[in-house]
Amino acid sequence: MDIEFVRSRFIKHFDGTTGSIYASPGRINLIGEHTDYNNGFVFPGAVNKGIMAEIKPNGTDKVCAYSIDEKDYVEFGLNEEDCPRASWAKYIFGVCREMIKRGVPVKGFNTAFAGDVPLGAGMSSSAALESTYAYALNDLFGDNKIDKFELAKVGQATEHNYVGVNCGIMDQFASVFGKSGSLIRLDCRSLEYQYFPFKPVGYRLLLVNTCVKHELAGSPYNERRLSCEHVAEVIKSKHPEVESLRDANFDMLEEVKAEVKPEDYNRAKYVIGEVQRVLDVCEALEAGDYETVGKKMYETHFGLSKDYQVSCEELDFLVDVAIDCGVTGSRMMGGGFGGCTINLVKEELYDIFVEKAKERYKEQYGKLPLIYDVVIGDGSRKIC
Ligand code: GLA
Repeated sequence: MDIEFVRSRFIKHFDGTTGSIYASPGRINLIGEHTDYNNGFVFPGAVNKGIMAEIKPNGTDKVCAYSIDEKDYVEFGLNEEDCPRASWAKYIFGVCREMIKRGVPVKGFNTAFAGDVPLGAGMSSSAALESTYAYALNDLFGDNKIDKFELAKVGQATEHNYVGVNCGIMDQFASVFGKSGSLIRLDCRSLEYQYFPFKPVGYRLLLVNTCVKHELAGSPYNERRLSCEHVAEVIKSKHPEVESLRDANFDMLEEVKAEVKPEDYNRAKYVIGEVQRVLDVCEALEAGDYETVGKKMYETHFGLSKDYQVSCEELDFLVDVAIDCGVTGSRMMGGGFGGCTINLVKEELYDIFVEKAKERYKEQYGKLPLIYDVVIGDGSRKIC
């Protein structure tokens, strides 16, 4: 993203002076979908696209914020009752409030921001926005006393308390902790994590965006989480050691099958399988076994589509095209209901797959899907 672009807008919209510039990325996730809020494993990485913001304390108690992409300007105070109406501004307000709750004496500031991570594409543009401001406010007002895990939790709490999405920690974690060239396996219960250099020889990772925008707020996302928590509770009544689906196995699930709704049973079945698939994929990657990685990606997709029911027709269509082209692995990525598929493709198939995906999607839906080559980038940072 272009520093000069953000700076020029900041100068134009405020008093002509400059502030500090911060950036945070969106993310991909190789495998481990809807496992984070079940205390399981995820395997994301940051991308080289994200949000960049210029920020300067303004000596008042008011935040003056300009969204360069939306061409929208909003002012708000820092008290709980000052929540702005514009949805993009709620993220910034939420981060301010969550930092204040953690003892950071946030004061008013001027800010302008822009992004190049596509919105609603399942690449966590919102986590990128949250992480950018959490990182910046910590630096500008908090002497960097809040650690990186807590910064990720500030973003997550913003989603819970100001946006209405009861998300897990994956997106904000990946945005804050991202490292160029590496995926990160995170245990969402202990928060232990490990970087895995990801340079598959002979393969490429690419995203195909259905351009069906997903909107997690008010969506069945929260419902999925409730299903999982409910099944975990029923299992816990027989196996007190089970705190979440992470601790459950297929036998335990069978035991309670008659006591839960069929859709909740199917959802839990998907999650229990997915927690294990993340570990299997890490092992396969270490062995350079990309065929297994790809096979697991397809398994994830079918689980998300049939059992977890968070896919959509367009995503399923693109996965079918991948199968027809002999792509090694393909699946919907992120929360679901739209957004991108992530594809592990042999170098020699790359061109033909891209061509076919475009051609067939256009034929079916009358519009072209967007293609992004995945470049794994760095996490939250101060630029200047
Ligand atoms: C969204 C949420 C994440 C995670 C994914 C699904 O991106 O924000 O916490 O649950 O969906 O894996």
